[in-house]
Amino acid sequence: MNPLLDRLHPYPFERLRELTRDVVPSAAHAAISLGMGEPKHPTPGFIKSALSDALGGLASYPATAGLPALREACAAWIERRYGVTLDAATQLLPVNGTREALFALAQTVVDPTRSTTAQPPVVVCPNPFYQIYEGAALLAGADTAFVNSDPGRNFAADWSDIDDATWARTQLLYVCSPGNPTGAVMPQSEWTRLFELSDRHGFVIASDECYSEIYFRDEAPLGALEAAKALGRSDFRNLVVLTSLSKRSNVPGLRSGFVAGDAALLKRFLLYRTYHGSAMSLPVQAASIAAWGDETHVVENRDLYRSKFAKVTPLLAEVLDVALPDAGFYLWAAVPGGDDVAFARGLLAQYNVAVLPGSLLARTAHGVNPGAGRIRLALVAGVEECLEAARRIVAYTLSLPRIS
Ligand SMILES: Cc1ncc(COP(=O)(O)O)c(C=O)c1O
Repeated sequence: MNPLLDRLHPYPFERLRELTRDVVPSAAHAAISLGMGEPKHPTPGFIKSALSDALGGLASYPATAGLPALREACAAWIERRYGVTLDAATQLLPVNGTREALFALAQTVVDPTRSTTAQPPVVVCPNPFYQIYEGAALLAGADTAFVNSDPGRNFAADWSDIDDATWARTQLLYVCSPGNPTGAVMPQSEWTRLFELSDRHGFVIASDECYSEIYFRDEAPLGALEAAKALGRSDFRNLVVLTSLSKRSNVPGLRSGFVAGDAALLKRFLLYRTYHGSAMSLPVQAASIAAWGDETHVVENRDLYRSKFAKVTPLLAEVLDVALPDAGFYLWAAVPGGDDVAFARGLLAQYNVAVLPGSLLARTAHGVNPGAGRIRLALVAGVEECLEAARRIVAYTLSLPRIS
């Protein structure tokens, strides 16, 4: 057996099940889950039709590089959304959802035999973070290093957490913007700093942008390709972005996204993917072409989130330290007393509402667990269900003994 498998950590939901095994959820309330970040708005009909109209494609093996028409639809979307022109043939690859691509990328990029010191290479991850980054790093034979989010600066990453010796060992950096769970969007100034670091130390930046289309301000979140272009980095050297239809188009079950950026890197990624067997099914490609080509449903979807967050956030802000995020579909709330696991257990027992304790989404690094004392609320269900959950959270919080 591959001994690296033993380095994997249990997934946050597995840990939550363990931590709530003895909790009996209140029978007086219908169960509501704000735990999983699975989009629940309906899938647009035209995407389903495009999928079913293309079922004839099941009779053929698809190419790993995807249909030229899909790559062109993705490149056209990048052009419209970010004003960045890509060569669809070399600077873009379809992937079966960003999860598998985030994982596969580390296996392609990390060279465990190349190390300036006797120590293993490093993959830098945000903290809190999407756990695939860590698993990908560990299975690639790298060590992880974490950059804590700073609640005092709207959850921006504290890049000074990483010292020069660690940057020198770094081969891959995952960035999540808009962030899960914080919703924070990285500004140009931080991108400039990261590109400088990447140039100095030669590491690859993987920018996970799967929440880019759900935002609450007037301006759409800055993307990494856009940030690179603003600095004249038109070859996107050592940069790839990963983006997904799951949240944008409410199709988490379609498993469709794409990776774009550095052509030399993507050439190697395509080679890896050919052997890994990660070609996208032709009906999925047809549905994806339809989805990337339409913005109307994306605007409607964003509006649904905006009105839901506008109703739910003020209600919760009366009792919890929580604010409207830049983007994404999570609230990242501090709980009174600071024990996120106890809060989640009590809420489940008394009001049958499931939330994810923030400490399970982060690791202790630089002396703190930056998720501790917070809960992640995924506002993915309909507005009425989210409002009902919020009312129960308010009632539960008010029932807790006051902490002075
Ligand atoms: C930060 C982040 N990245 C990537 C993904 C994976 O999305 P998908 O594989 O559906 O594209 C998720 C899913 O929840 C996520 O939260």
